[in-house]
Parts: sequence; C-alpha cells; structure tokens
Amino acid sequence: MKKVALLEISDWEKEALQKFPEFLAIADLYSESLSSENIEKFQDYAIISPFINSRFTPEVITKLPHLRYITTRSTGFDHIDVDYCREKKILVSNVPAYGSHTVAEYTFALLLCLVRKIYDAYHRVREEGNFSLENLRGRELFGKTLGVIGTGRIGTNVVKIAKGFQMKILAYDRYPDKEKEKQLGFTYVSLEQLLQESDIITLHVPYNSSTHHLLNSNNIPLIKKGAFVINTARGGIIETEALYQALKSGQIAGAALDVLEEEKEIKEEQELLLKDRLNETEKLKNVVLNHILVDLDNVLVTPHNAFNTEEALHNIIVTTIDNINSFLQGKPQNLVS
Ligand code: NAI
Repeated sequence: MKKVALLEISDWEKEALQKFPEFLAIADLYSESLSSENIEKFQDYAIISPFINSRFTPEVITKLPHLRYITTRSTGFDHIDVDYCREKKILVSNVPAYGSHTVAEYTFALLLCLVRKIYDAYHRVREEGNFSLENLRGRELFGKTLGVIGTGRIGTNVVKIAKGFQMKILAYDRYPDKEKEKQLGFTYVSLEQLLQESDIITLHVPYNSSTHHLLNSNNIPLIKKGAFVINTARGGIIETEALYQALKSGQIAGAALDVLEEEKEIKEEQELLLKDRLNETEKLKNVVLNHILVDLDNVLVTPHNAFNTEEALHNIIVTTIDNINSFLQGKPQNLVS
C-alpha cells in the first residue's frame, strides 16, 4: 500500500499523471468515489485526494482511522465536513484558483446560449434541417443589469467579462471589497436590491450553511419579472422547488444550471432508492424536480462541466501534487480548515 489514495480518477487524469513518476511511486489511483460500501479499502491511507463525489461525513471519517490529510481536487469543499476534520486534527486543502477564468467564461457561455437560444437554433438546423427563425428571437446583453452574487475569484472575472458587454453590474457579497468596487466599476447592494433590479443573476458563492438556499421561496418572488438565473456554483444555493415554481409561472424567464441540488443523487438514483426512504424524502423530491427542470424549454442544464478545460485540469493536477508534497514536508498549503 502506498501513502496516498487518489479517488475518482478519470482516464485523462491517469494519462496526465504519467508525467509525474515520482508522485505515482507514492500514490494509488482509484476510479471510484468513496462510499459506505468501499470504505474498508481506504482505511489505511493517511492522505486521500477526492474530487467532488466523495462525501467525508463524520460517519465516513470515523472509519478512516489513519487519515491525516484530505486534499480535494476542486475549489468547492462542501463535500467535506471541515469542522469535524478540525476536531479530528485532519487537515483539509483545496485547489483554490484553478478555475477562476474557466468558470467565468463558462458562465457567459451558458448566459449567451440561454438568452440567444443558441441550442435551439443549432438543434433546429442540425436535427430538423430547418432554417426558420420562429421563436429564436433573443435579448441583448448590452445595457442590461447583471447581478453578481459573490465577488471572489470567479465573480470578479465575471464582472470583468460583463464590462466588455457594457452591462451595468450590481453585486452582493458578505465581505464587500470596496477597493475592487471602485477599480472595476460596479456597485455593491443588498441581496434584496440585487434580486429586484437585475436582468440576469449569477451565483459565485461557496456552498455552506450560510449559503444553503440563499435563493429561496421567500426571496425568489422579489426577482424582477423576466430575469434569467445562472448557477455555476453549487446546486444547494438555490431552493429547487422555489426555482421551479418561478420558472413555471414565468417570473423567471430562464435558467442555466451547471449544478443541481442533489446532483450526486441524480447520477446514482438506484442507490438512493435502496436507502432508508423516510430520511431521503427531501432528496427524492429534488431528484424528481431536477428531471422536470431538465425537460423545461426555458432551462439549460449541463453536467457540472464549468471547470472542464485543459488549462484548469492541468492546474488541478499540478496544485494537488504540490499540496501533497508540501504536507509531506510539514508545510501544508491551501488549507481550508
Ligand atoms: P472565492 O472564495 O474566491 O469567492 C467566494 C465569494 O463568496 C467571496 O467573496 C466570499 O466573501 C463570498 N461569500 C461567501 N459566503 C457568502 C455568503 N454567505 N453571502 C455572500 N457572499 C458570500 O471562490 P471562487 O473561487 O470564486 O469559487 C466560488 C464557487 O464556485 C466555489 O466555492 C465552488 O463551489 C464553485 N465552483 C464551481 C465549479 C464548477 O465546475 N461548476 C468550478 C469551480 C468552482
């Protein structure tokens, strides 16, 4: 057994890792994510590097007695109970900045696809050989108000791109950066004002207890009628049922979602059905709602793909190897707890 277990390794990662033979000498590669069924296999490792589909709950962590370090190959770390890790003296790192351009650019890819109906246009020509413009009329971004929720690394790049489209930008952040506001030329407002005045709302906050259902049945009704919502952050930031109701009623004109609440469950529905159904009712409801959202004409869903560029993936591998080497040298970096 080697020191490090890399979980959820895909074929491209295996290939890319061949360039790092010294690292491979200390690391075992596994394609599966961590689950209660396979946990015994990983119980002797001191270092585990998951992607986003392995959940490190207290119950799981307790069964990994030798675990000292988790380094996730993602920016978000909401799949890891960092408070419990702190209690157990397990360090946790992430890859903080690999995707700040990649995700910001994808946000605009989704936004343009949604407001200019690019998918419908493409599908009509390719699948139907039909060049009609019926129902393909879109809207300009020029002069519209973009509401950016979270002005960290990704949100800041979104602001910069929006400037190129000559949009007006409102922002909401728990920790407003007044210097950045002045430099980039946007305006911090309350969440309520942002929802009321934005033509397009885009989410760039992490998922944690303070952002769970940040957009919910109480404040979604404040959203300007006919606005669009883009979510490339995490599904649980929006209350799925409230979003669905607003899309159905036409209050929200359309949504582009790279992330869904319970997106892990939608991939593993059979597993969910086999679990204790009483405890899983809320999750099952969201899985059903996700299927309904996927089928709505005014909703564009992609499979958590925003991070997926060659440049970002290269950064993820290099930073993760660096994180592990730094930990082994007693100088852990990129710690989130
Ligand atoms: P960041 O840490 O640089 O910025 C997050 C911002 O959110 C900060 O300015 C922070 O003050 C603000 N914030 C935190 N809690 C808040 C709250 N309760 N209310 C208001 N503002 C709050 O993070 P970064 O790099 O911009 O990434 C944002 C998120 O994007 C990640 O946490 C991750 O979940 C998601 N992401 C999604 C990807 C995808 O493939 N779809 C890829 C990479 C990141």
